[in-house]
Amino acid sequence: MEFLRELLESESVKTRNATFQLTLFCEDFSALYPGMQRFVLEATGPGRSPARFITNTYEYSPLLPGSAESAARQMMAIWKEDLLRDPDVVFHEYARPQKDRPARPIDLLILQGSPRPDGNCAIFAQWAVEAAHDANRTPAVIYPHDLDIHPCIGCYQCYNTGTCVFDDDMNDIIAAVRGASLIVVTSPVYSNTVPAGLKLVIDRMQAYHAERALSGSGRCRHGLVFSVAGRKGKENFACITSVIAAFFHTLGIENAGGILLDGADSVHDIRTIDGEEEMVKALIRKYL
Ligand SMILES: Cc1cc2nc3c(=O)[nH]c(=O)nc-3n(C[C@H](O)[C@H](O)[C@H](O)COP(=O)(O)O)c2cc1C
Repeated sequence: MEFLRELLESESVKTRNATFQLTLFCEDFSALYPGMQRFVLEATGPGRSPARFITNTYEYSPLLPGSAESAARQMMAIWKEDLLRDPDVVFHEYARPQKDRPARPIDLLILQGSPRPDGNCAIFAQWAVEAAHDANRTPAVIYPHDLDIHPCIGCYQCYNTGTCVFDDDMNDIIAAVRGASLIVVTSPVYSNTVPAGLKLVIDRMQAYHAERALSGSGRCRHGLVFSVAGRKGKENFACITSVIAAFFHTLGIENAGGILLDGADSVHDIRTIDGEEEMVKALIRKYL
């Protein structure tokens, strides 16, 4: 994604040994979120990797005093003093190398949203795995409920760096999303929506959204959903389908639909439904 960048301020800081340049930019991120702006402060100097301090307007929630712009300008004043006194303070703290962004070499990623490892969503996942193996492709199944995933705290700092402030099992999930050519969500309907473990993943995927927005990367991929509702009636999927659609949008992938199976509590075992397995496998084959 391209963002407009406006120069707000630029200043040379001369010390006995070198001249450093401080520059403050404002970037318009409103194409991403309404009214979002990023303030980017950069320090450069001979033989130094650039130091950066970035803050965005969404970080400053209503009860927080100050603003992104005032924080960036304050930091500029602090850096000016630091550069005159000891430039290492600025460059050691803020000129960190970019974190590695590995991708897991898998073809099919299945996010198995049911906490039950032996329920109907697990059966959907198993059929998807078999379809991938039949096509000589590599599948991976992730069970979010088994993992250590901190809930998103809405700090919006991922829009400064492209990474989350938490270092937990989401790193592996995002690495899998980066590499996968097809993403499948299997999920039961819980209180009309997805179970809590899957919702953690969906919210934390904001960091991947930020990563894509900042790096401008993206390729055409598909997402499928296989969902079961205990009760009868397709209206039981109204909320979950819109949650999954929002999730696929966050991932930047095309929603290719899937299978919504209602009345699952009375069916008990979806393997008893004629043609269900073949329907799942045909969809996987089509989009893999
Ligand atoms: C906490 C909880 C909430 C549920 N809420 C709903 C619901 O809102 N609507 C519905 O149709 N079924 C609901 N169910 C039933 C599940 O969707 C159903 O049992 C499903 O088949 C379980 O899938 P699984 O076998 O893959 O675990 C709920 C089940 C649980 C445990």
